[in-house]
This record gives sequence, C-alpha cells and structure tokens, in this order.
Amino acid sequence: MTELKWWQKAVFYQIYPRSFADGNGDGIGDFQGMIERLDYLQDLGIDAIWLSPHYPSPLVDCGYDISDYTSVTPEYGTLEDFQHFLDEAHQRGIRAILDLVLNHTSDQHPWFIESRSSRDNPKRNWYIWRDGRGGGPPNNWYSCFGGPAWEYDPATGQYYYHYFFKQQPDLNWHNPQVKEAMFGVARFWLDLGVDGFRLDAIGTIFEHPALPDHAVKSSQLELYRAWRSAPNAEEREAAWKQQEKLYEYQVGQPETHELMRSLRALINEYRDRVLVGEDDDIAYYGDGHNELHLLFNFPLMRTERLTPAWVRANQQARLTALPLGAWPCNTLGNHDSERVFSHYGDGQNDAAIARLSLALMLTLRGTPFLYNGEEIGMTDLLLSDIHQFRDQLGIWVYQIEVEVLGTPPEEAVLLAAHAGRDKSRTPMQWSDAPNAGFSPAGVETWLPVNPNYAQGVNVASQLADPDSLLNFYRRLLRMRKQTPALIAGDYTPLHEDAPDYLAFLRSSTADRQTCLVVLNMSDQAHTLRFDLGTDTARLVFSSHTYHDSTTSDPSCLSVVPFEVYIAELN
Ligand code: GLC
Repeated sequence: MTELKWWQKAVFYQIYPRSFADGNGDGIGDFQGMIERLDYLQDLGIDAIWLSPHYPSPLVDCGYDISDYTSVTPEYGTLEDFQHFLDEAHQRGIRAILDLVLNHTSDQHPWFIESRSSRDNPKRNWYIWRDGRGGGPPNNWYSCFGGPAWEYDPATGQYYYHYFFKQQPDLNWHNPQVKEAMFGVARFWLDLGVDGFRLDAIGTIFEHPALPDHAVKSSQLELYRAWRSAPNAEEREAAWKQQEKLYEYQVGQPETHELMRSLRALINEYRDRVLVGEDDDIAYYGDGHNELHLLFNFPLMRTERLTPAWVRANQQARLTALPLGAWPCNTLGNHDSERVFSHYGDGQNDAAIARLSLALMLTLRGTPFLYNGEEIGMTDLLLSDIHQFRDQLGIWVYQIEVEVLGTPPEEAVLLAAHAGRDKSRTPMQWSDAPNAGFSPAGVETWLPVNPNYAQGVNVASQLADPDSLLNFYRRLLRMRKQTPALIAGDYTPLHEDAPDYLAFLRSSTADRQTCLVVLNMSDQAHTLRFDLGTDTARLVFSSHTYHDSTTSDPSCLSVVPFEVYIAELN
C-alpha cells in the first residue's frame, strides 16, 4: 500500500464555500469560517478537500462564472486568507485541490470585455465569434442550460458561443494564447501549493471546428418535456440520453485528449499533484498514465435506488474498462445533484440507507468523494418561493414551465426546485442554534437554512450522540484508514445473484490482507454461506453491535437488516 499515491488512499470532501462556514457573520461562507472548521474535518477523518470555486464571480452560475482566475472573491476573503487556509489544512495533513473552470469565463472577465469590444481586438479570437446565418444564429446548437447556444452581440454584429449560461462565454481553445493564459492560471495556484485541480466540465472545452448542425428532429423543449414527464428513472435516463444527442458536436471532441495530456505534463512538473476530471468518460485516463489521474464514476449515482444488482453491474462495467494503471473514483453526490440522503432514501429506512451509501463509498475500489453536509444527513431543501431561488437553472425551468408550458405557478415552482440545484447547496448545519449556527441569529443567509437542523440534523447534536450518522462517518472513516485491503485491494464480487445484499472481497497481496464486505441493502436478516476456504472471519466493522464474538464462520454468517459487515479473512 505504501506504493500508492496519496490521492489513491485519500477520502476527498467537497466544500461548497458559499455554504460551508460563515466566519464573519454576513450570511455567506468564507475562508475564515473554513479555517475554523478544519479541526472538525480532521476529526471527521477526511484526507483531502475539493474546494468549489472561490474566485471573483458575478454569481450567475454560483461561482462557476469566473471574472478573475488568480484571486479570491472578497465575499470569501483575500488571497492571504486563502494561503492561510491552505497552510492550516496542510498542517493537519489535509490536502486541498481547487476547481479549475477551463471551458468558459464570466462575461465580466476582462478577456471577454476586451473580446467583445471590437472585431479586431487582440482578444477577439479568445472566444468563439461567428456571423449569423439567414437572420439567425450560426447553427442550431443549444446551451445545456436552456435556449440557443449563441448570443447576438449588437456592438459588433456577431454571435458568441456559450455551452452554459449566456453569461459564460466559451473560450476558444483552438487559440494557443488561451491555453497559455490558462496554464499560467494553473501554475499560479500550483506555485502557491495547492495539491491539484478538479477540472470543471472538461467534455465541453472543444467544439467541432466546422460547427455542423445537430441532426435531432425534436427541439430541446420537447425533449425537456419528455424528460420531466418520464414515469421512472429508466425512462428519465432514456430521455436524457436523447437530449444528449443535441450536443453531439459540442462535447467530447478528440482535441480534448491532447489538452489533457499537456495538463498532465504541466502538473508532472510539480511534486505529487492530482487532476480529477468532471466527466465519466474513462477515455480521459488516456493510457492510464498520461491524461487525468481520476474521473468520476458518475454512472453509479444515476439511479433512484442503490441496489446490489445496480452496483455490481456498475463495478463490472467500470473496473473492467479501466486502462491498466488507472485508478477508480466514486461519488454519490455533489453541488449539482440531489443530496445523498434524499436521493437514495426510500422514505422508511433513510437513515440506514445513508449508512450503507457511505459504506459503499468507503469499501468499493477507488477514491471516494463525499459532499459537505452528507455526513449529518442533510436533505434536499425544496424552496417554495421562486424569489428565494439562487440557481438560474431552477429559475429557467420555472419560467419555461409557467410561460411556455402553461404550468400553474405552484406546480412549476416544485418542478423547478427539483430540477434546480439550490436544493443541495443550503448552508451547512452546525448546531441547533438559530440559522443552524451557520450565521448569527437574525442574519439572512444567502440561501435559506433547512429547518431540519432543529430536528437533529446538525453537527453539534450528532457529535454528542454516539449513534448518530456523523459518528458513524467518523468510525467508518477511521476503520478504512486502518484497513489497507479496503484501500489497495482488488475487488471480487461474491454471490452475484443475491438480490438483497452486496458481497465482495477486497484483497491486497502486498498488505497480506483480504476483507469480506457484506452490505445488506434490505430490511431482511440473512444467514449467508461463503465458501472462502477459511472458517474464521475476524470482525473489522459492523454497523450493529449484536455480534457476540469478534470472529465468525463465513460459511454460516448472519447479518441483520441493513447491516454493514466487514471482516478480515486471514
Ligand atoms: C460544472 C459544475 C456546475 C456548473 C457547470 C458550468 O458542471 O459542476 O455547477 O454549472 O460546470 O461551469
């Protein structure tokens, strides 16, 4: 195991800075707040932080629209505060990677302001400008956030391209100056000591150079309608797949690989840094050594229920497809998705399912990414007042529903709350004090606090309760650190037809350790027979305390409903 890199052993924790900790009491998270909570994170047992964007931004896309790549938004503090945060994290043995948004800038970035100022401005070609066609945009492409991908700019009589919001113009990566400038940005932060980057939306960096029309007959709106009225997850996924075809020439272009290789070469100049791509396409691992270190296994999270069959099929597909030397990376939630607790819960056994979800992350092969607040079981907050929405995506859905599809506003706001991303971005719940201890009483937080902080969904109450989800996280994270097979080991599925439970081995020859993992994903008890050539399994961890002995016979192993059972075999 000593041969593994830190990022192969680490558990990452995503901080969404706006909502993590408010140090100056203005209703918005900041670096002071984050610094004060580093002891909490160290005690929780995570090893690395992924920080969502902390840069100056007009906040059209909650920070993913950056107007200055080499400083800190004043709302969060100063560059000195950032450096302090990084040093304090490092002192605690916690690494920190930043979010690097390469695809686009904010329309308020000086590069774009220059670019749009005249057709012959030296920065004109830093973005994608084209003449219109027949009185309309240059082609039929859509923005993935809704509406056309082209915005007409009357000042110079041309259109510019944006895959995301129109306030997020795409950079022209065919222009070497763009690459040089962005690599300069990467170096700036690497020189300050950051441990790597989570690369935002890498699949959208290049567009087909000929800008061909997509061939889909249905409009984006028709496909949206099909998606939102789909009766189940499978049909929703099918509708989603159909929608993806709209963007055929806007994503996944071959040039991306060359860029990933040069980013890898850049990062290799520094010691021990990591690149994580926001994409699930394993092609971005390159040959396993020459593109990105990690790519999220997003397919795992695209289901309503984490069933054993689902997980097995996912692992089978994913692990066998990885190139030699590539390292897996699993996650179940982030700032764009539902909260894990809300997403996979069945309404009856949510607390048990939340524990199993964590156990899954910490026992599957690969680097786990957790999202802040998950450890206390924070749930989606569905806002019912459109004026409280901050995510423009939710607002767009609301407008389309009401203005185009004629949906009654009460219904539209619910659909928008589900489709938008504010639901999982609400302030971290630190205690049962007003405002969940995130901000002082009486301060209006940037997004409302989920009122369930008063029902025990907060850090302070859960720290005091030995049976809380938070303490389960702490125990399981500690156990993982001390169990090398769970970090370095191979994955071998067992009982592959079992509908109720997931069983597998993690085995590391170098560490001479083999672990049996059983995740009982049902409300039924089971007596299981594993023929593993040994009659002794030494208990490493159980979510339940009924085991009367620390050893069991795997050929006759009892597990209780929703049990997480981990044992060492040799
Ligand atoms: C990524 C981010 C998302 C953002 C988008 C555009 O998908 O995770 O929050 O809206 O990129 O930058």
